[in-house]
Amino acid sequence: MRIIRVAEFGGPEVLVPQEARAPIAGPGEAVVDVAVAPVLFLDAQMRSGTGAEYFPLRPPYIPGVGVAGRVASVGDGVDQAWVGRRVVADVAGGYVEQALVGVDGLVEVPDGLGLEEAAALLHDGRTAMGLVDDAAIRPGDRVLVTAAAGGLGSLLVQLARAAGAHVVGAARGRRKLDAVRALGADAVVDYTEPGWADDLVADVVFDGVGGQIGLAAFSTTAPGGRFSAHGTPGGGFAPVDAADAQRRGVRLSGIERVQFTPEQAKRLVERALAEAAAGRIRPVVGQMFPLEEAADAHAVIEARDVVGKVLLLT
Ligand SMILES: NC(=O)c1ccc[n+]([C@@H]2O[C@H](COP(=O)([O-])OP(=O)(O)OC[C@H]3O[C@@H](n4cnc5c(N)ncnc54)[C@H](OP(=O)(O)O)[C@@H]3O)[C@@H](O)[C@H]2O)c1
Repeated sequence: MRIIRVAEFGGPEVLVPQEARAPIAGPGEAVVDVAVAPVLFLDAQMRSGTGAEYFPLRPPYIPGVGVAGRVASVGDGVDQAWVGRRVVADVAGGYVEQALVGVDGLVEVPDGLGLEEAAALLHDGRTAMGLVDDAAIRPGDRVLVTAAAGGLGSLLVQLARAAGAHVVGAARGRRKLDAVRALGADAVVDYTEPGWADDLVADVVFDGVGGQIGLAAFSTTAPGGRFSAHGTPGGGFAPVDAADAQRRGVRLSGIERVQFTPEQAKRLVERALAEAAAGRIRPVVGQMFPLEEAADAHAVIEARDVVGKVLLLT
């Protein structure tokens, strides 16, 4: 089968297609014929070697952390009824044609939901659900979402809106801002404009960018508000002064709120898929690439060219 391997840390060109032996399901396992592999911002970050001190992964490795497809075969002790079912699953190495998954890790994709949408929701959906649950949004709350046109941000905009919030989506450039508006944001703002945050006040901030943009987003948080720093594309988590937050009565949270146990993650993924199947949220699929072109997929993410999610198709 074809796989993508990272032979060394570096630019997108280190994502090289290779052949590997197809997996065989052992006891308690299933082999999934992968149709779609989601590409995360984190995949590109890890491939570049940025933050290697935080991640245990070292080249050579197969990138990607999730798959969507059909169960091709199962091992001993696994119900044969799984064979042929459409599933999503977390994996260590998702840029592959076939993936080996413990049966407990399989989540069935509901009828009426495409594998592409399901793949787009596998991580962004659970994270968005977890962040919105944690923020306990009340109707009428003012919510600011940065990186609002990204995979995660586009879901946060929709979920905050559904919770009755007044949502401001912040992103870069007209094309992305138009997309954020189309998702239901009440207002949009371009954070490349100087002073973009000056007139904003938010009860809840979901910051998916970090760096100076994240810091400006923090400055909009109202006394008693909640600020979530879960994103780093801007050069690291928003460098918020915890003492300042405490003085203003702002509750700080972040990435630790979305470190789920496998059971919690599974329940959140099921919820996200069900919400999408019912038409209450819509994952935005921005660009799709054949598996062999994984390097191009990483390049568009790094160029900030994409609205929504990037997927690889086998
Ligand atoms: N997806 C998850 O499940 C999850 C879980 C935990 C944490 N996170 C973190 O949340 C952040 C957003 O994740 P995501 O999956 O939504 O990623 P994404 O879809 O790729 O969005 C990242 C966004 O960041 C913005 N950005 C700002 N500065 C950037 C830069 N220098 N380079 C590239 N993009 C830049 C881009 O929008 P503009 O061009 O509009 O600025 C882009 O849309 C990431 O840091 C990710 O690691 C994600």
